[in-house]
Amino acid sequence: MSTSDIASIKTEVAQAISAATGKDELEALRIKYLGRKGLLAEMTQSFATLPAEEKPQFGRAINELKAYLVGLFAEKQKSLESSGKEEKNAFVDIGMPGIAQEIGRMHPLTQVIREICEIFSRLGFLVVEGPEIETEENNFTGLNIPLEHPSRDAFDTFYLKNQKLLLRSHTSPVQIRAMKSRKPPLAIVVPGRVYRPDALDASHSFMFHQIEGFMVDKNIKFSDLKGVLEAFAKSVFGDQIKMRLRPHFFPFTEPSAEVDISCIICKGKGCSVCGRKGWLEVLGSGMIHPNVFKHVGYDPEKYTGFAFGMGVERIAMLKYGINDIRLFYENDLRFLKQF
Ligand code: DAH
Repeated sequence: MSTSDIASIKTEVAQAISAATGKDELEALRIKYLGRKGLLAEMTQSFATLPAEEKPQFGRAINELKAYLVGLFAEKQKSLESSGKEEKNAFVDIGMPGIAQEIGRMHPLTQVIREICEIFSRLGFLVVEGPEIETEENNFTGLNIPLEHPSRDAFDTFYLKNQKLLLRSHTSPVQIRAMKSRKPPLAIVVPGRVYRPDALDASHSFMFHQIEGFMVDKNIKFSDLKGVLEAFAKSVFGDQIKMRLRPHFFPFTEPSAEVDISCIICKGKGCSVCGRKGWLEVLGSGMIHPNVFKHVGYDPEKYTGFAFGMGVERIAMLKYGINDIRLFYENDLRFLKQF
């Protein structure tokens, strides 16, 4: 046994240790080389037979080899332990169901607002918005709503501390804003939130949505209103529905009409949804009152126009057969996912 033998043993053992893949295999190697009857023990025994001059060098080499191998075994032992742990943590169950990506969607009211605005856009209307905090003047006075009108009452309108400001109770004040800041011809639709101090129940909410529409030009006639509304109603509720106008009163239009469509549930025969009438009220409308034109500085002798306003929740409830307005505001995913 020479020092060069020792060097080759060193590489041999180092390779065997690094190739070991498990604890048992490593232990077998340790016994083979470092055990009581192992290779190193054997080599140490051969020490006695060496000539005296070789003993110191050989002794040093064998001690070095032993220390080196002890270190290698310890290192390998550690790395086997830690990779075993990692393996456990990294266990992948390829049969486990994946995490499904939830696909977002628009709120049903947003969908209906967009659908309606798109219908009017195709007819040439511009979509305009206005503020939810309004002046008394735009919400009432400019719209020819007299001072004693019950809608001005604090029971029907949310006033701010400053009594001249309020939360708009309809989208009609945007007629005033738009007419004041533009010149005819005008064709505008206005979606937005409105507020009224109503107790919450299946058909009332203190906040809801309206879409206002109006057109102003020379020579706008009642028949233009009827044509536009019929195109709208058929786009939303289907070509087969019938539409009718019933005389009504609004301070800001003259003449005024409420618009009904034939009941989409019973097709006009009469059911519980339409209250046996066969007709469903969907919006208010009329020819813009001359006083409204005067208020915004338009000459009522020169210009005429029509206006209409509808509740978005009501349209959505009719369209989708929803019987409780509160469903729109509760954000229950089981409801929202159906749209
Ligand atoms: N502003 C009315 C309301 O809130 C709805 C309305 C009716 C708007 C007739 C109009 C209209 O523009 O001509 O009940």
